[in-house]
Amino acid sequence: MERTYLMVKPDGVQRNLIGEIVSRFERKGFQLVGAKMLTVTKEVAVIHYAEHKDRPFFEELVDFITSGPVFAMVWEGENVIKAARVMMGATNPADALPGTIRGDYATKKSMNVIHGSDSLESAAREISIFFKEDELITYEKTI
Ligand code: CMP
Repeated sequence: MERTYLMVKPDGVQRNLIGEIVSRFERKGFQLVGAKMLTVTKEVAVIHYAEHKDRPFFEELVDFITSGPVFAMVWEGENVIKAARVMMGATNPADALPGTIRGDYATKKSMNVIHGSDSLESAAREISIFFKEDELITYEKTI
């Protein structure tokens, strides 16, 4: 089953949006298979955002994601990578439609509440940066 890496960014944690965000993915029908609070170190931030290293906003990006705790999650389900990105809304909150997470809760590109993997490859890479295999729990529903 497909998995994606989602992360409530420091702005989302500090605005008490963890529950709201988890709830949206639960209600959609995806399964939470791993979750933890952590503060991202600079070293991990540079690895996680490696594809953006030549962008002018790279330093701002690393400073922001390391500025406070994040809520890291792995979600599982059919087409979860694409569906999660639709539910998150456009990277630029000005373009994010109402009803999406960024459309409802964000105004700035740099503080856009949530990160989500954009492909199978990035999901596998990002999950392995933040989680050990034994921290991910797959289970069958029994009720
Ligand atoms: P994210 O999905 O975490 O991946 C890269 C991030 O770069 C993106 O979310 C945005 O938050 C951030 N970003 C994109 N464009 C800009 C920008 N012009 N200035 C600051 N941050 C940006």
